[in-house]
Amino acid sequence: MSGIEQARKSAEGLAHSSGFGNEHSSEAVPGALPHGRNSPQRAPLGLYAEQLSGSAFTEPRAHNRRSWLYRIRPSAAHPPFVRTDNGALRSAPFTETVPDPNRLRWNPLPEPAPGTDFVAGLWTVGGNGDATQRAGMAIHLYCANASMTDRVFSDSDGELLIVPERGGLLLRTEFGLLRCEPGHIALVPRGVRFRVELLDESARGYVCENYGQPFQLPDLGPIGANGLANARDFLAPVAAYEDVEGPVEVVNKFCGNLWSATYDHSPLDVVAWHGNHVPYVYDLRRFNVMGTISYDHPDPSIFTVLTSPSDTPGLAGVDFVVFAPRWLVGEDTFRPPYFHRNVMSEYMGLIEGAYDAKAEGFVPGGGSLHNMMSAHGPDRETFDRASAAELKPQKIDDGLAFMFETRWPVTATAQAATAGHLQTAYDDVWQGLQRHFRS
Ligand SMILES: [Fe+2]
Repeated sequence: MSGIEQARKSAEGLAHSSGFGNEHSSEAVPGALPHGRNSPQRAPLGLYAEQLSGSAFTEPRAHNRRSWLYRIRPSAAHPPFVRTDNGALRSAPFTETVPDPNRLRWNPLPEPAPGTDFVAGLWTVGGNGDATQRAGMAIHLYCANASMTDRVFSDSDGELLIVPERGGLLLRTEFGLLRCEPGHIALVPRGVRFRVELLDESARGYVCENYGQPFQLPDLGPIGANGLANARDFLAPVAAYEDVEGPVEVVNKFCGNLWSATYDHSPLDVVAWHGNHVPYVYDLRRFNVMGTISYDHPDPSIFTVLTSPSDTPGLAGVDFVVFAPRWLVGEDTFRPPYFHRNVMSEYMGLIEGAYDAKAEGFVPGGGSLHNMMSAHGPDRETFDRASAAELKPQKIDDGLAFMFETRWPVTATAQAATAGHLQTAYDDVWQGLQRHFRS
């Protein structure tokens, strides 16, 4: 059986534990999970008890993240880490270029060399903040044509929001297995070790590395108790462990650099766990889209799936926003997203189809960056069409776009600023917007 067939077989019929931010618990072997205490004198089945903290011990309960893992070997049993090549992965602070006020747009990444796995295929577009200060974010692309074998990855700098655009992924994590197809997202918390196996010949997508507060569901305010991304649609894995003796490389991203250590066993050896610092998958098609039923396009914050809050209420370190299939019914309304300038900085990607503010040039696997206060909005063709359209109810069902929207300007990496797949004539999409003023 090929690696892809094996991965597909492993990804069939996975069980999950549902909910977001709640206390999950799971045991792969009955009796592996201690009851009544987290760290008994002797953990069941000869396992080691270990806490994984995603927040300071003393953070408020609403923000406190931790899980207890019951594993064959403690994570402490490992040899020294040594520096390894960062490849095309870059990290904050981003200082290779100066922040650029221009609107930038890229075509998809070129195909990587054969044998490129998820970690080797990470390619950084840019970001902001400082990984050592646990503030800011990075935007990465990935393009892979091989599964990770005999190696796992963990990111000490932040959590990873993975947005596949092409090819399914099987994430083998310390907490169990998750399947993530295009149209889904996966959220891997800070410090959680995982391996990415491909369910198709190649895989491509986007990653938001969030150095700041962990993503949470946005408050709903007057929307009420339900809507947008519903908590029950987030799926955590159930416990599944590897009992593998033999060399396994652990690659750790730490303060911007990759470090490597070769363990004599697989660290995906967690037999039982409980807690709220866990990985998830979420199907973006479950998003309960809210929009106008009278007039005007709402601000796109109405499409927020997850938000990483800052110390200032309402000001996100980064928001993840999805433009999902929806009905447009606004009367006397310019229905596509409006022209605007925004104090927040916006990176957009496209998972499938087309985005309703761009008639052409914004393609699946590509991306655009509209930095703080840069003027943007519908292209000329979209403006002309939407201004003249008969305003019948219209279903937008041929596209799935998303946005990483962040409080700080995004500085591109040198490779992104000079890439061959950077579009050189992006400004032209706003050329030819006719003067219509009549005094
Ligand atoms: Fe925008």
